Amino acid sequence: MKSKNTMPLPVIPQPVRAEELPGQSNAEVITAGNADPALGTEGYELHITPTSVTLHANAPAGFFYGQQTLRQLRAADGSLPCCRIWDKPRFGWRGLMVDVARHFFTKDEIKHFLDVMAAHKLNVFHWHLVDDQGWRIEIKRYPKLTELAAWRNSIGFGLDPGASRNYRADGRYGGFYTQAEIREIVAHAASQHITIVPEIEMPGHSSAALTAHGELTCSGNPCTTNQDGGIFHGIFCAGKEAPFEFLQNILTEVIELFPGQYIHIGGDEVPKDNWKKCPHCQQRMRNEGLQNEEELQSYFIRRVEKFINAQGRRLIGWDEILEGGLAPNATVMSWRGVAGGIAAATAGHDVVMTPFTHCYFDFYQGKVGQPKAIGGYIPLEKVYEFEPVVPEIPAEKTHHVLGGGANLWTEYMPNYGHLQYMTYPRACALAEVLWSPKESRDFAGFQTRLARHTKLLDALGVKYARTLD
Ligand code: ACM
Ligand code: ZN
Repeated sequence: MKSKNTMPLPVIPQPVRAEELPGQSNAEVITAGNADPALGTEGYELHITPTSVTLHANAPAGFFYGQQTLRQLRAADGSLPCCRIWDKPRFGWRGLMVDVARHFFTKDEIKHFLDVMAAHKLNVFHWHLVDDQGWRIEIKRYPKLTELAAWRNSIGFGLDPGASRNYRADGRYGGFYTQAEIREIVAHAASQHITIVPEIEMPGHSSAALTAHGELTCSGNPCTTNQDGGIFHGIFCAGKEAPFEFLQNILTEVIELFPGQYIHIGGDEVPKDNWKKCPHCQQRMRNEGLQNEEELQSYFIRRVEKFINAQGRRLIGWDEILEGGLAPNATVMSWRGVAGGIAAATAGHDVVMTPFTHCYFDFYQGKVGQPKAIGGYIPLEKVYEFEPVVPEIPAEKTHHVLGGGANLWTEYMPNYGHLQYMTYPRACALAEVLWSPKESRDFAGFQTRLARHTKLLDALGVKYARTLD
């Protein structure tokens, strides 16, 4: 039943069915199992009367999400509006990606970011841990990654050096997470029903790693950790064996740290000219019967997938992994629009939609008075129009769309306040798109609820963008 009142319940995302009842309640919450089986593991039922508050769910995640709804309902004035709610998510993958390579965010900042995600029923934290500008994860076997590759000469990107506190005593800029810190963050995420998908970029966007391990490039010469944006030639050689051994050793430690099903291997934006000139790469292509460098990239990803699958995990990569032939079990994250997602789902692969047209939260969110951003324009309403299941995907393949997410590329977000500003309130719109039924979308209603919802954002200490146009 949809709400009969004109004022929808002040929650984000909107429940599947909500009936507002007269009165308010201050009763204790009683929780009980055995909810409607159709609610699955993440759904819940909530019944609030003046004298009782009852929350039913089938599994811990469902109770957790019911509690998040209660928290939102209470945020306005402490008491609960009487209502009956039946609710479950539309998609199982409701994500946010944070790039900690362009700028580093501390353990406590990441934990706070996870808390705010959970309050919006977002459940996948895609952690972009390495890129050309920094390596952020301690790997015991390769200490040079955090001694050298985690640091660069300056904040870069033309930014004010005072915009961040992440400097080492010698003045170098950067940072990394120890494995103990990562375990703490993973445990914290689990307590918030969030799965972390770690991303280790390969074969491109790897200048930082190749600063520390120059022998793994085609030429054997080291790279320099970049200080500005762009697409660089910091690429692993696909002809030598050593890069595969190195990456497998790294993935072994990554898999041990992250219990989730998915390991993200990047795969985007790989300039192929080093490979064209490299005798090792060209020999590999002859040996393997590969027609071009796109097929060499496909060989690279397939080999890594075989390793990841052998450890009982699944590979996910950006949509460039379709080029030269998709690895047999790969999941595709479609970012250059939705075409990659359409192609992969049609071919029977799972897909996560994160198109730059709606989901790039590094783009401007307002037209005037905004801090410098990378470009583009994605206001709140545009995010609210995001639809992961596009009509070009055949009906019998739409189940391959696991959901979607937004990406926080942080070139121009040098501190946590700025990251939050770019994330919220756009992530509120994203949360609603990924959880609520498509038919219930109503931007005007969302805006009304958002005005109340800011009380919760304030209580959570979120530095969201307030005035946008
Ligand atoms: C990407 O934005 N390069 C995935
Ligand atoms: Zn090579």
